[in-house]
Order: sequence, then structure tokens, then C-alpha cells
Amino acid sequence: MTAAATDSLEHLRREAASCRACPLWKNGTQTVFGEGPSDAQIMLVGEQPGDREDLAGRPFVGPAGLLLNRALADAGVNRARVYVTNAVKHFKFEPRGKRRLHKRPNAGEIKVCSTRWLLGEIEAVAPQLIVALGATAAQSLAGRPVPVQSNRGEVLELASGLRVLITVHPSALLRLRDEKDKREAYDAFVQDLRSIAQILAREAGLARPSGMVSTG
Ligand code: URA
Repeated sequence: MTAAATDSLEHLRREAASCRACPLWKNGTQTVFGEGPSDAQIMLVGEQPGDREDLAGRPFVGPAGLLLNRALADAGVNRARVYVTNAVKHFKFEPRGKRRLHKRPNAGEIKVCSTRWLLGEIEAVAPQLIVALGATAAQSLAGRPVPVQSNRGEVLELASGLRVLITVHPSALLRLRDEKDKREAYDAFVQDLRSIAQILAREAGLARPSGMVSTG
């Protein structure tokens, strides 16, 4: 882990804590910055913190995070070796009684937040591969809308040199009602995540890259 990358992330985290670049800071509890090793080979990018993440100040610790943890483990990927963050760093929601209902960030919020913070995280960590979890993450990274279903499992090579694996957002799986649909969608998600290990192994010419754990 390079000290420069760690310092740079810490600096960004401190700066982001008082970000006022879009109106979302007004209602959110706090900025939820990314976390993970500063030398991670893989960076996972979600949409924005949810209710639990907003309160905890950490990404992917609520229901979607639990599902993500399970899928990563089933794919043989150790979450502790992966840098996890979001395209947008504040929770956008609509109050409904005592509940706070998730609202999708708009294109302006996605752009301003990713330009200020996500790009900085990418520069500091310099991951070999970024995994876009869902449409918002894909849009923030590609700078244009990317249809997730027709691109999932594919690695987009962006003009910036970034390599982005597209897959679904775990919350999409949580919304499914039918058990069979759920099982199939989960298996497909794990399959997408498994290709992280394959891609990195192919590139490194190693049997098992360092971000991975043995599945058997
Ligand atoms: N959904 C996201 O996109 N990110 C989180 O951190 C939690 C839920």
C-alpha cells in the first residue's frame, strides 16, 4: 500500500465530509465516502448510500450490502481486499411518514459528485478493474447512460483507459418477488462477479490473484 495513495484518499475523505457541491448534503446525515485498501486491484462502485449507510457513514452496510457480501464470497472475492464506494456520496431520499424512500440521483448530481470525488478515488487507488453496480455507477464512469442488461458481464474499455465491468445493482435483486427469479438473478450476479477473478488472473498470469480467496 503506498503512503501517497493512502494520504490522498484521507485528504479526499476529509474534503468530501463538507461537500456542498449539490443540494443533497442538506438532508443527508453525512457524506459516505469509499473504504478499502488504497492499493486494491478492484474497485466496486454503487449508486449512493442508502438509509443504513447514511446513518453508519459507511458504504454497503445495509440490506444491499449484505447481499453484495454474500455474492462476493460466493464468487471467491474477498471484500476486505476490494475498495468499495459509490457514484454519489450523499443519500437522496423522499420522506414518507417515518421512512426515507430512496430516490435516484439525477444526471447533474451524478456528474458533479463523480467529478469531485469518485475520479479522485480512482486516481488514488488506481484499480486494474472497476465494477459498476447498476446504471448510475455505469453512467458516472462512462459519462453517458449505459444499458446494464445488454452490457452486463462485459468489460468496457473507456477512452480514459479505465476498464469497467458492468453488472446489476444488488438492490435490483432485493426487489424481485418470485423465488425462482431471485435465485436466477443471484446466480447471474455471482457469475458476473466471478469474472473479476478470471480477468485479474488472466492479466497477472497467476493461478490466483491477490484480491481473491480460494473457493475450494
Ligand atoms: N446502495 C448503494 O448503491 N450503495 C450503498 O452504499 C448502499 C446501497
